[in-house]
Amino acid sequence: MQTAAIRILLALPVLAVLSACGRAQAEGPTQPIEFMHDVHVTDNEMECVYCHFTVDRSEEAGIPSTETCMGCHRFIRGSTPEYQEQIQLLQGFWTDSLPIPWVRVHSVPEFVQFSHKPHTRAEVECVECHGEVETMEQVRQVESLSMGWCLECHRDEEAEDDCAVCHY
Ligand code: HEC
Ligand code: HEC
Ligand code: HEC
Ligand code: HEC
Ligand code: HEC
Repeated sequence: MQTAAIRILLALPVLAVLSACGRAQAEGPTQPIEFMHDVHVTDNEMECVYCHFTVDRSEEAGIPSTETCMGCHRFIRGSTPEYQEQIQLLQGFWTDSLPIPWVRVHSVPEFVQFSHKPHTRAEVECVECHGEVETMEQVRQVESLSMGWCLECHRDEEAEDDCAVCHY
């Protein structure tokens, strides 16, 4: 554990620059398709895990494949011109066999070990770290994802707070 701490401290100047990225956002990035969480989750009652199905078994919650979307959008063309336009973009990526270049919203630096699995197992809800995604048109980062933020909850929940749990 001590060696882990020393290794981390030696890397500090680089880290200080990188860690400036950890901030909440007022709005999310522009995505290649205007996929709306509120339309899917709130209006159409879909569960988060329908699309983010690796969240309880792996490090990554994962972004769904185009195939998952097409399970419905082969048939659902959209009820308004705006929806139809966006769904046609989706169908275009599918027809051309191109991956959708989704822009990443959340990330922790590489020297931090984060995994969804232990959190899902301990029943920490998505909303505690991502806010009310079900009401968002576009997902944005609402928490700082800073070390202090991780540690505050770990101490409240009596989870591990050894350096080596998150840095190795
Ligand atoms: C119909 C599929 C679908 C459902 C259901 C869904 N999502 Fe998503 N989610 C996506 C797609 C596609 C993206 C990538 C585009 C974006 O960021 O909007 C995404 C992105 C995200 C991101 C941002 C990922 C990043 O890049 O950091 C979070 C957080 C998220 N979803 C959480 C949730 C939560 C919480 C729920 C349930 C309340 C949920 N999602 C339900 C498809 C879905
Ligand atoms: C379980 C079925 C289902 C799945 C899976 C699904 N959708 Fe949808 N989607 C819907 C329904 C229902 C609507 C609402 C249609 C309407 O009201 O006209 C919708 C609407 C949309 C719209 C228009 C509204 C908006 O969000 O901008 C887009 C774009 C869209 N979906 C993209 C996607 C993408 C991308 C995926 C995969 C990540 C996906 N959908 C997965 C059922 C689904
Ligand atoms: C303890 C806090 C926490 C909880 C609980 C949590 N997330 Fe995350 N999520 C994060 C962090 C931190 C990242 C960035 C991870 C990285 O950079 O590796 C992230 C990234 C994501 C991403 C981007 C793709 C990926 O897998 O890295 C998606 C999608 C996502 N979360 C969805 C969800 C969903 C859905 C739930 C609930 C089932 C959930 N998250 C619960 C903290 C959390
Ligand atoms: C809202 C509360 C909360 C937040 C925020 C949170 N965690 Fe956790 N974390 C937990 C809980 C609860 C556990 C499970 C503890 C257990 O199983 O004993 C856990 C477990 C972990 C584990 C596994 C520990 C082990 O025993 O193997 C790691 C690694 C981890 N968290 C890293 C992070 C990182 C990195 C962040 C910030 C980016 C973070 N966590 C933010 C509550 C949280
Ligand atoms: C629960 C997870 C967690 C634990 C435990 C943890 N850290 Fe961190 N640490 C993080 C996260 C997340 C970041 C990235 C913060 C950012 O990007 O703003 C970080 C960043 C750092 C940085 C970079 C500078 C900074 O402050 O952003 C150093 C140095 C560091 N940690 C050292 C330590 C040491 C030493 C310990 C033990 C006393 C420790 N960490 C314990 C999650 C953790």
